[in-house]
Formats: sequence, structure tokens, C-alpha cells
Amino acid sequence: MRRALTAVLGAVTLLLAMLVAGALPASAAPTTLKEAAAAKGIVFGTAAAQSHMGESAYVNTLNREFNQLTPENEMKWETTEPSRNSFSYGAADQLVSHARSQGMAVRGHTLVWHSQLPDWVEGISSRTELLDVMNNHISNVAGHFQGDIEYWDVVNEAFQDGSGARRDTVFQRVIGDDYIEQAFRAARQADPGAELCYNDYNIDGRNAKSDAVYAMVQDFKARGVPIDCVGLQAHLIVGSLPGDIQANIQRFADLGVNVYITELDIRMQTPPDSSKLAQQAADYRAVTSACLAVPRCKGITVWGVTDKYSWVPDVFEGEGAALLFDDAYAKKPAYDATLEALGGTPGDGDGDGDGDGDGDNDGTVTCTYTRTAQWNNGFNGQVTITAGSGAVSSWTAVLTMNSGQDLQAIWNGSPTENGDVITVKPVGWNSSLAPGASASFGFTVSAPGGNVADPALTCSTP
Ligand code: XIL
Repeated sequence: MRRALTAVLGAVTLLLAMLVAGALPASAAPTTLKEAAAAKGIVFGTAAAQSHMGESAYVNTLNREFNQLTPENEMKWETTEPSRNSFSYGAADQLVSHARSQGMAVRGHTLVWHSQLPDWVEGISSRTELLDVMNNHISNVAGHFQGDIEYWDVVNEAFQDGSGARRDTVFQRVIGDDYIEQAFRAARQADPGAELCYNDYNIDGRNAKSDAVYAMVQDFKARGVPIDCVGLQAHLIVGSLPGDIQANIQRFADLGVNVYITELDIRMQTPPDSSKLAQQAADYRAVTSACLAVPRCKGITVWGVTDKYSWVPDVFEGEGAALLFDDAYAKKPAYDATLEALGGTPGDGDGDGDGDGDGDNDGTVTCTYTRTAQWNNGFNGQVTITAGSGAVSSWTAVLTMNSGQDLQAIWNGSPTENGDVITVKPVGWNSSLAPGASASFGFTVSAPGGNVADPALTCSTP
């Protein structure tokens, strides 16, 4: 009886100790975009470029946060069919196999588009010839990737801003209005397993252009043209989102197609400051919530992993900082807002909000060891602990003595000895450190056998 009681008390004590130590996560809410999105039944993706895949921070962030990948340029016509009927898939194949190995869905981007289109296509002036060329391109490219693509952007940006008229492209001029439906039919034939999307920008809210796309989708549905989804690119500007994104998503959904936010970025005048970043966070939250509110909105894709490689500064002069991770891959306020909107918890789930998983909101420390004096059978050492960019409430240094060494004295540190391992805590006044600040302690070691080798040193918080 007494033994059982002791065991129960022991277990309770252990549990309490674990809770106090923060060993149990404070909540099981997801802590990455992809996990949070998956829990809501949608994908969270990014555009990615093969040229950056050699950079470990890029790949690590991609793999950790995203479960869908859109090749940023690698599947475009100028890359896949640079000269007539001669196809090259190298960079796209590498991205697709990376995505597959990580369990990411792939959005094929894009089969028919007026931009990044090789000159030889621009030069064609006969309807039958261009139809032939377009169908051949689609059957080769979509055929090549068949089985690996969840969604294809079959036709990209076919409408004009403002009026909602068809954009004047070689396809529109030479083939005519029906080029879009021809493209969808060819895509269905080449890859019957992929969802086929029409994709465009400035169709995120209701306006003349999105009305025109809406009318086209309605017509395609009525006539049995194979279309499954609409992509809202959502290249947006901080503080000026259309107010009716959710209603717009809903009206497309009501036509019986899925909706994807396909190229989300929300740009600002650079340099960023805290108020622009806060507005951007609110804007990302709004877009994410709008998608989640409509069951047929099945995914959100941001147009790049990091501000470092965003297309925005190249195209919009003086603007940038449009994505969720900054140039150094740090999470921006927009990241936390997006994760929260998806039902996740910023940080690492230990409830302290600092993302390092140790259950306290201390920053990190580094430490150095210096030998300050030495004699035949002993020496003095000094350890300096320095806070990183965050403040720390306390620190721990661990010294491991070599054989034949004994701690004789210690000052400005409070030791606990366990064999050769000496754990040193602050004495009180030198416990908390401002960002970048240091604390030191000193000690004397006796080494009767003459082994004066440096002890090993590690340090941590708190
Ligand atoms: C952009 C890429 O991000 C750039 O690297 C490239 O130089 C130009 O194209 N709409 C689209 C995308 O559908 O393909 C575009 O991507 C951005 C606008």
C-alpha cells in the first residue's frame, strides 16, 4: 500500500516536474504552415526555383513549411520548348522529384501564356498551324509530367485589365476566342488526372476582368469544356486589398469549380517598417481567412519562399518585402498572422512564443573559455557568457574536467559537481543579460598529476 502510494506520488511529482520544465508541449496546435493548412484540409504552397535549391536555408524552409510547390519558371514554354518540337525538362524534373520526395503536391505552371513565350511561336500566322503547335506543346509537356501534377495552370492571363476583353496575344489573334477551350481539351487528354485551372491576376475581387473570367467559366461548365478550377494569383499591395475576395471566391465556387490562391504576395514600398509589416500581416490574415471560409477554396500558394528572391523588386520599382520570410529567412509578422489564421500557433508549441522549443522565452547564449593563469599543477580559468540578439533571464555553463583535475575554487558562479562534470549557474546579480551583454565567472583547478589540459565547455539558457 505504502509502496503503491509512493509510486503514485512519484509519478505525479515527475509529471509536475515535466510541466514546470516545459517538457510537455503547452498545446498540440500545428506550428508550420503546411501542418496547419493540412489540418484545415487545404494545401499551403510556394513557388520555388531550381536555381536556389543548392542553398540550405532555402531548401530547409521550403521543406519545413510548404506541402505544395509551383515551379516559378521551369515549366514555361520558353524553357520547355525553346525551339519547335524540341523539349527540355531538366530543371522542372529536378523540382518535381524534390517535391515528390517531400510529399508535396505540384502545380504545373503554365501551358499557354503570352509571356516567356519563344519568338518562334510569336511568328506563326496560320490558325491550323498554331492550333497544332499549341496542342503539340500541351500534349508533350502535360504528357511528360503526367501522374506528378495535381493541378495545371492551363491558360494564364488571357484577359485584359479594366475592360475584361480578351488580351491581344498571338493565340487570340491567330486562333481566336476558342483557343482557351482547345487548350483545356488538349490538357485533359494529356493528363486526365490533373485538375485543370484558368489562372490570372487582378481577378481576386469582383471587377470587369473577374466578371469576364466568371462568364467564361460559366460558359465552359454549361458546354462541358473540361475546367476544374480557377487560380486567383493575388499579387496584392499592402493596405489595398479588394474588400470582396471571399465573395468573389464564393461565386466561382458556386459555379462548381475549385479555387486556388496561386501566386500570393503582398508588396510594400521598401524599406519595410513595423507599421507596414503589421498591415501586411493583417492583409495575409484576411486572404487566408477568405480562402478558409469557402470550402471549395483548396489551397494557397505564395510566390516565393523568401523576400531575398522575390520577383517583386525586379518588376515593381521601389517595392518588395512581399513574402512571409525576410531576406535572412526569418519569419515576418505576416508569417505568424497566416499561421494563426490557419489555426496554428506561432513558435514551437511550447507556449513561450520564441520558437526555439525550450519552453522559456530566453534568447540564446554563446560562451568562451580563457586560461588566465597556469602553474605546475594547476591553473585558473575564466568563462564569459554572452547573450545573442535576445535577452536572457539566466544561463547555465557546463565544464567537464580532465582526468586528475579538481575544482578548488570558483567565484561569480554557483557550481554543482557530479564527477568530472561541473554545472555552473549564476550567483544572482549576473543572471539576466540584455541582448549582447556578457557575464563571467572564474575558477581555480588543481591538477596534482600535472594534467593542465583545458576543460570542455558548453552553455545554454536558462
Ligand atoms: C514571374 C517569375 O516570378 C519571374 O522569375 C520571371 O522573371 C517572370 O515571371 N504571373 C505569373 C508568373 O503567372 O509566372 C510570374 O512569374 C509572375 C506573374
